[in-house]
Amino acid sequence: MKQFSMEQMVSYCNQYGFIFQGSEIYGGLANTWDYGPLGSRLKNNIKDAWRYYFIQNRNNSYELDSDILMNPKIWDASGHLSSFTDPLLDCKNCKARHRADNLIQNYEETVIADAMTQQEMLHFIKENKIPCPTCGASNYTDIRQFNLMFATKRGVTEDSSSTIYLRPENAQGEYVNYLNVMRSMRAKLPFSIGQIGKAFRNEITPGNFTFRTIEFEQMEFQSFCKKGSDEELYDYYKDYGISFFEYLGIPRDHLRYHDHEKLAHYAKAACDIEYSFPFGWGEINGTHNRTDFDLSRHQEYTKTNMEYFEEATKERFIPYIIESTYGLDRIVLAVLFESLTEEMLNEKDTRLVLKISKNLAPIKVNVLPLIKNRHNEKAKEVYQTLRKHMMVSYDEAGTIGKRYRRGDAIGTPYAITIDDQTLEKGVVTIRDRDSMEQSIVKIDLLVDELRKNLNI
Ligand code: GAP
Repeated sequence: MKQFSMEQMVSYCNQYGFIFQGSEIYGGLANTWDYGPLGSRLKNNIKDAWRYYFIQNRNNSYELDSDILMNPKIWDASGHLSSFTDPLLDCKNCKARHRADNLIQNYEETVIADAMTQQEMLHFIKENKIPCPTCGASNYTDIRQFNLMFATKRGVTEDSSSTIYLRPENAQGEYVNYLNVMRSMRAKLPFSIGQIGKAFRNEITPGNFTFRTIEFEQMEFQSFCKKGSDEELYDYYKDYGISFFEYLGIPRDHLRYHDHEKLAHYAKAACDIEYSFPFGWGEINGTHNRTDFDLSRHQEYTKTNMEYFEEATKERFIPYIIESTYGLDRIVLAVLFESLTEEMLNEKDTRLVLKISKNLAPIKVNVLPLIKNRHNEKAKEVYQTLRKHMMVSYDEAGTIGKRYRRGDAIGTPYAITIDDQTLEKGVVTIRDRDSMEQSIVKIDLLVDELRKNLNI
């Protein structure tokens, strides 16, 4: 079985309609990507899996859909205006811009740049004469902190009071709606609020396809709890993250934990789950113990009482928050790397097959008339029946073998062939993507059989 490189993945995604370069016909816009028909289906299926796992199948769990644009004071209160920065330096020779921590980490893997101060980083870079990855010189400016938030202006005036920001994380939407959700849902601690939505970061060194982009989608989940139960809940969500990835078909040995040495301004503890990408281990999830930092800051800035009243003890307190956050685009990429395989069929022949779990497959069934002019009418009838129940494609172009392969390459679990037996006896052939085995099913039982096999 072959492992695919990042370049091959980019080309696969483009060829089969998963992911295209953003603004392609205008020459593109660096590090923006558009999801094609199959990519957007896959994304939606992962969102549905997250909704099932985090909202539907849990107690006291509520979904939210808050706006991307928020009152800019929120970013002051949350600390993002002052602290959501990366250490940046420029090469004086070629003017390329780099993140100081990345320069160090790529130069010496064992050093933990995260744990260094700005001065220590500069000292390390100079002492080791770390070469510029672009031109090879080692002549840098001082390090300065660069804020990652995208600012824009609202209204017709351009004064500083009209500056607003594209949210750099979804979480603040959950925090500023915590009272609303609690009141309207009559929620009692512990309860959770999750949401799926876009976030934006002016990343200095984006790259690795959709791994690090400036616009991306997060699935964030905030659990509100009483101080004292926070550490147990933190450990629980670290494990829950692994089980969610296994549910998506990513095996445990391709995942690892990475505890943070240097913590974000809001966190008491933080741990990532990383996936083994072709370029190395990369974060796809983070669990953070955000304590009562965010709610306390919103209370301080708005003078709104953010306390929870606990009936049993008559205590009032600001809840702690355990955050479990998932990068959707990175998960799509991990699922694709995990599933895409090239299989040897015999000495001469191979097949490309996306062995994606059935619940994530963009298209569930591919309907194929064996002979176009003889079986297409019946095949279209079957196609129209099935598509009321699941995502189905219809393919009549090319040999049956080629059509099977096209379905395999995009991960379609089942192919249904319509042939003379269908016309004469009312039965169809179902071919399984992974085993390539075929079985005969009565047309009347087809919907039930597929629903059972696909767990719909
Ligand atoms: N609310 C906390 C928070 O935003 P984060 O670790 O900065 O935490 C959460 O981001 C997740 O979002 C990450 O685990 C990652 O999967 C994804 N993510 C972060 N920056 C990204 C980027 N530039 N491009 C794509 N995904 C990104």
